Amino acid sequence: MPSLDLIGSSPKFRALLEVVERVSPADFTVLIQGETGTGKEVVARCIHAASPRRQNRFVALNCAAIPAALLESDLFGHERGAFTGAVAQNMGRFQRADRGTLFLDEIGELPLELQPKLLRVLQEKEFERLGSGRTHHADVRVIAATNQDLERMVKERKFRADLYYRLNVFTITLPPLRERAEDIPALVEYFVQMFSREMGKRIETIPSEVMEVLKLHDWPGNIRELENVIKRAVIMSTGPVLRSTLHELKRLPGQTSPTAKRTLAEAEREHIVGVLRDTRWVLGGGNGAAARLGIPRTTLVYRMRKLGIAREQGSKSFRGRLSGLPDLPTDLCDGQKQSHLAGAEESIKLAFPQVGRA
Ligand SMILES: Nc1ncnc2c1ncn2[C@@H]1O[C@H](COP(=O)(O)OP(=O)(O)O)[C@@H](O)[C@H]1O
Ligand SMILES: [Mg+2]
Repeated sequence: MPSLDLIGSSPKFRALLEVVERVSPADFTVLIQGETGTGKEVVARCIHAASPRRQNRFVALNCAAIPAALLESDLFGHERGAFTGAVAQNMGRFQRADRGTLFLDEIGELPLELQPKLLRVLQEKEFERLGSGRTHHADVRVIAATNQDLERMVKERKFRADLYYRLNVFTITLPPLRERAEDIPALVEYFVQMFSREMGKRIETIPSEVMEVLKLHDWPGNIRELENVIKRAVIMSTGPVLRSTLHELKRLPGQTSPTAKRTLAEAEREHIVGVLRDTRWVLGGGNGAAARLGIPRTTLVYRMRKLGIAREQGSKSFRGRLSGLPDLPTDLCDGQKQSHLAGAEESIKLAFPQVGRA
């Protein structure tokens, strides 16, 4: 069950909370628009949790995640034998959400031929299961979400106008994170606390330089991207100071975060290789990779062997080859910047506020 915490205090965010409060008790359909990762699903869950339907189910369906051919039976159910492979009767999500809320994510992906059926159930509260002529009833509040421009899709005849107007009774538009950057520090603290608790770590300090970079990044993946970056930083942190993995952020706007798909081993491997390149594969000594990573040389050798890191081909002439290349990503954790950061750690000791602010 995902968390229902909504963190933020910027004017845009407060306005959003007010709208959520206002639409929750009413029973009309809500359309939530916003870029990926802006919190569409968590807002839908909050609306349900604050509505008179809260005792009943919240059922979610991502229309883009299910093959078009299976969507109809997924939504409305099927009788046994309705199609090849329908070995048992299935009641469908509308029926499961009876007296509750059905969240239809990525509604723009709903195939055109299914749209009249959705319109009918919204208007008449009636539908038929596949393979049966019997009419079923379900009392469902639909909350739909999209990151597409449905109005334009209507003009391009990719989305039915009648369904659009039926869904568009009340629209909530979630702002991208870059438009409410004031909320970033509170979100960072919230996620640091959440993940360190989950991983049994104690992180007391977020270096101010790290926070500055986080505030300036444009977050194409919005809160989900921020959450992933912080998760990775908490994973990499061994002491009470949040370890930064800021080199990740030096991406072009519009690129999605690679962190979601990367495993811990991959992240660790990439970090170690980066430091090894910086130190030209010198492991020991005061300026060696082990010292920079803050681990004994033997531990580094062990980690390298375990992660299959071998000295790169031609790495001896690395310096020569490097001159013509663009800047390698640098991590605030390593090199000369470490001492710089150490000073900041002394002066900025963030006291974490209690979680659960709404
Ligand atoms: N205001 C917020 N405060 C805290 N966490 C949030 C907030 N908005 C979104 N999140 C978190 O960000 C992640 C992405 O949110 P989600 O609702 O799945 O986004 P979307 O559906 O728009 O892609 C989730 O883990 C969610 O809990
Ligand atoms: Mg989503």
